[in-house]
Amino acid sequence: MNRVTAILGTKYPIIQGAMQYVANGKLVAAVSEAGGLGVVAAGGISSEQLITEINIVRKLTQKQFAVNLNLQYKNVPELVKTVIEQGIKIITTGAGTPKYYMDDLKKAGIKVIPVVLWPQIVQNLSIPVIAAGGIATRACVKAAFDLGCEGVQSGTIFSVCSESPVSDQWREAIYQNNNEPATLPLGMPAIRVLNTARAQEITQKNLSQAELMNNLNQGFMTAFKDKNVENGVIFAGEDVNLIHQKQSAQQIINELAQGLEK
Ligand SMILES: Cc1cc2nc3c(=O)[nH]c(=O)nc-3n(C[C@H](O)[C@H](O)[C@H](O)COP(=O)(O)O)c2cc1C
Repeated sequence: MNRVTAILGTKYPIIQGAMQYVANGKLVAAVSEAGGLGVVAAGGISSEQLITEINIVRKLTQKQFAVNLNLQYKNVPELVKTVIEQGIKIITTGAGTPKYYMDDLKKAGIKVIPVVLWPQIVQNLSIPVIAAGGIATRACVKAAFDLGCEGVQSGTIFSVCSESPVSDQWREAIYQNNNEPATLPLGMPAIRVLNTARAQEITQKNLSQAELMNNLNQGFMTAFKDKNVENGVIFAGEDVNLIHQKQSAQQIINELAQGLEK
């Protein structure tokens, strides 16, 4: 048996990447219902908002789901308390080390999946490794498994699936993207974003990490809420040019899961 599905309690070892504001209760439930692991993104939201999204997931599915803690935000200690109180069983973490919270999370019996760079570490670990970044087709899944990973996490492809809350303008920017380069890496560790006018402007400024995050988050809201793509920032992976049409979470999971067949 695949160790990742055994640990997650899902049908497939496929995780939907956390995506701030995008990975809401509806999208998460759709991914979990389709046999993957949906992940509610807690980045940028309050404990109350997180509880609202968790309740939406629980109304829509009985299946396993997770919550992502984006460690760059100041309210992480409060969110840790909330996920424990809410009885969440799996946490993924991004943008930093979760070591300060590990004791509390472990005591609560929560499984923690930190996001790190996989090709370098897979040969040196005995615990299962889940590949993330650039995985949007069954061939990518197969390649990750060939390199020794036992699960995959995909973000961009789920960000534009039918159940995602992004606007049509955001979707089209992903489907029609033909910029060169396709995405720009910003910051350290890098966040990949579509090569829009706003993203280019940000690359030309000499910003501290904190200022950069501020600019990225403001630009993200311009794209997400105001639906203004060129003046906004759209997070997207290097697989963006492999994604050209709207699919449901179920169709995406079915496609990716075929890469698992031997
Ligand atoms: C729109 C968007 C928002 C994201 N927000 C977060 C986040 O809040 N926390 C996090 O840990 N990762 C975040 N990510 C990264 C994804 O969880 C995932 O690791 C990554 O997208 C995988 O690469 P891929 O997009 O090429 O599949 C985001 C990605 C996208 C596309």
